[in-house]
Amino acid sequence: MLLQIPGVLRPDELAHVQATLGGAEWVDGRVTAGHQSARAKHNRQLPEDSAAARELGRIVVAALERHPLFVSAALPLKIFPPLFNRYESGESFGVHIDNAIRMVRGSAHRVRTDLSATLFLGEPADYDGGELVIEDTYGAHSVKLPAGHLVLYPASSLHKVQPVTRGARIAAFFWVQSMIREDAQRALLFDLDGAIQRVAAGDAGHPALVQLTGVYHNLLRRWADA
Ligand code: NI
Repeated sequence: MLLQIPGVLRPDELAHVQATLGGAEWVDGRVTAGHQSARAKHNRQLPEDSAAARELGRIVVAALERHPLFVSAALPLKIFPPLFNRYESGESFGVHIDNAIRMVRGSAHRVRTDLSATLFLGEPADYDGGELVIEDTYGAHSVKLPAGHLVLYPASSLHKVQPVTRGARIAAFFWVQSMIREDAQRALLFDLDGAIQRVAAGDAGHPALVQLTGVYHNLLRRWADA
């Protein structure tokens, strides 16, 4: 499932993130790349352990945790601390697949990357190129979203970032270990949750709601790691 989630950051949070990144020190993005992807990766990143990356990462994670659509779609168990990247002057990231397991720097924690996410932090009009192209069984999907919007997709997908030919593309990216490892099961729960929300919006007292909510939770109980 490839899902666009609008309005993850509030305007005040977005302005703060953009201002902080505007004055940040960037390093070669290959510091966090795996052996294969390092050959394809040409961009810059905030150092993972910099004060700016930690502070902005906390803002992004807090925003995700209060966003009902993100929670419903990802069913997050662990969120990897977000990283921040910048592409300019023809920089790109060729086709690759993200590592299955990521160590959280400076800790013994590991995150299994079930879902990959990119949070766009610049407006599309401010740069040319820089589309995130994600391949799935339906073909290639080109994604370039307004600032503060997120795309969530299975980390098992091949993907790339097209060369940025004007301006700079700034984004946060991170991974989610979901309570539901299998994409197909997670997609079913997301559809069921959406249907329950729509029934509830029309008639909060509908007698089928208790039963449907029970089905949702009983599937979650069968399938979830918690
Ligand atoms: Ni990637």
